Amino acid sequence: MKRGMLLAMGLAVAGSLTMAAVAQPVDPIAVRQALMKQNGKDTKAAFGMIKGDVPFDAGAAAAILASVSSAAAKFGTYFPANSQTGGDTEAAPAIWTKPDAFKAALIKFQTDSAAARDAKPATLDAFKAAFLPVTQNCKSCHEAFKIQK
Ligand code: HEC
Repeated sequence: MKRGMLLAMGLAVAGSLTMAAVAQPVDPIAVRQALMKQNGKDTKAAFGMIKGDVPFDAGAAAAILASVSSAAAKFGTYFPANSQTGGDTEAAPAIWTKPDAFKAALIKFQTDSAAARDAKPATLDAFKAAFLPVTQNCKSCHEAFKIQK
């Protein structure tokens, strides 16, 4: 009897925890900004090696390229129609008014960053050759789809 009650209570608690986890809304603006902040960190680390401030390390390069391509793969998921304003977003209206152009920019970023990752650069020169084309995407997408505040 006592055991049965404890079990029932345990199930009730587990149930409410599950409910809370499901009810917790994901803030798409916060998620996409966090992905971009990670891109910023990774790019800074990459330029540390490219400029020679930090010695080239193939493992660190591989981690940077894996991280950027992972962010590129996820980023486009976090632009629902109800996230055009708020949360200090710098997302430009063009994302929603020119969805095909934004999608093309996303696909190019995904393709270029996956190619850089798959190139597995083993030298600084190979890393530069792989990574610099990826950074063109940062610039061109920000010009078209990010508000400069
Ligand atoms: C396909 C478009 C696209 C590409 C490619 C892109 N960005 Fe962004 N980036 C955005 C948009 C849109 C925002 C604004 C997001 C928001 O505020 O909702 C942004 C925001 C940022 C921010 C500010 C994040 C914050 O809120 O503090 C940084 C840093 C950043 N990007 C770095 C990069 C770097 C580095 C690259 C390349 C490796 C890159 N981005 C590639 C579209 C892009």
